Amino acid sequence: MDRREVLKASLASAAAMGIASKRAIAAEPGSPGGVEGQAGSGKDNQKPVLASIYDYESAAKAKLSVAAWEYFNSGSADEITMRRNRETLDALQLKPRVLVDATKIDTSCAVLGYKLPHPILLAPTSSHLLAHPDAETATAHGAGQAGTIMVASTLSNRSIEDICKAASGPIWFQLYVEDDREAVQALIERAEAAGCKALCITADIPIPYARDREAHIRNVAPTLPFPNVGTEAKAGGGAGRTRRHFNWNDLAWIQSFAKTPILLKGILNPDDADEAVKRGVAGIVVSNHGGRVLDTEPATIEVLPAVVDRVAGRVPVLFDSGIRRGTDVLKGLGYGASAVLIGRPYLYGLGVAGADGVRDVVNILRTELEAAMAMTGRTRLAEIDRSIFWKSRDYSS
Ligand code: FNR
Repeated sequence: MDRREVLKASLASAAAMGIASKRAIAAEPGSPGGVEGQAGSGKDNQKPVLASIYDYESAAKAKLSVAAWEYFNSGSADEITMRRNRETLDALQLKPRVLVDATKIDTSCAVLGYKLPHPILLAPTSSHLLAHPDAETATAHGAGQAGTIMVASTLSNRSIEDICKAASGPIWFQLYVEDDREAVQALIERAEAAGCKALCITADIPIPYARDREAHIRNVAPTLPFPNVGTEAKAGGGAGRTRRHFNWNDLAWIQSFAKTPILLKGILNPDDADEAVKRGVAGIVVSNHGGRVLDTEPATIEVLPAVVDRVAGRVPVLFDSGIRRGTDVLKGLGYGASAVLIGRPYLYGLGVAGADGVRDVVNILRTELEAAMAMTGRTRLAEIDRSIFWKSRDYSS
């Protein structure tokens, strides 16, 4: 049995004993790294152990509605890019070092001037109400507990003002640039007035591409509020907004009045990265939207080195899509990312245990990152570079 099967069996046996899986799951998180390990009563022994992001994934699948699960977990079209994100990260081989003093592993870093205890940020994702009744305000609490930055989506189910009020750490605002310029300017001004510290403009989805699994659940998906754009709509489909017009001139127009630094998210092509840097963006996010945009484009980890080389240190490069393990975080940093973002993993945490679940998934990844750093002989993030990878498969270098 693999891990997921073990967890499923554990949930099934809890249900068979009359212990609602919901209650069992809700009682579980909160232990360090989400790991339960102490011997307790017989009842405690029935609780599923949430030791990894994959455990949270299985628990979220068991708990969430079909509509929520399909919305969160699907990719575009045949999900080739979504799978490739994982397969490519898995296939990259790390080069261990032994006998390096690992008594102190320091994962602290600075991103756009913000000092963080670790380099794992929360990517913008829409529709948190599908995961938890407190929606994005719970996520903001969890981000604060995990000491990280939450990038709040334009398509949140809570207003950017409420998210900022709930937050104890920095909030960045993810912006979809709609065709209506007046609405875009008003939204940016709202986000800045609410206290957002940066704008993360998403560039990779002018038009949704073949969201088949979302289409299949449209009839059973609940209608959700999207207070930042003043609409109600079913999850997916961009809350009915269009953003076909967005081009480099619109970026310059936004730069002419935005007071906060601007990152451009959804860059894979090094030429686009170069253009963005020349146009004065403060950062680049290498992302394929977790495989939810153009299917059959490469995994982000495949293009990350080329983008980092082209950007050549002019601005920070961040990286997301497919991160499920501390070794994935390490691999992104190894190829030159300043920090990484996670999407689905914290949605699983939110669905399973609200703010505590968000905190726990980040802590799991951080703990795994520390161990992976120790075993590749790195005690600080600055020591992580491409030498964490084998150069060739003959393993002589
Ligand atoms: C997203 N993503 C996303 N990106 C964005 O810029 N604005 C958004 O509103 C959303 N919404 C969204 C919803 C859901 C359910 C998912 C899974 C993703 C993409 C997100 O920011 C990020 O790029 C990916 O989630 C990273 O991949 P992983 O970590 O989910 O594999």
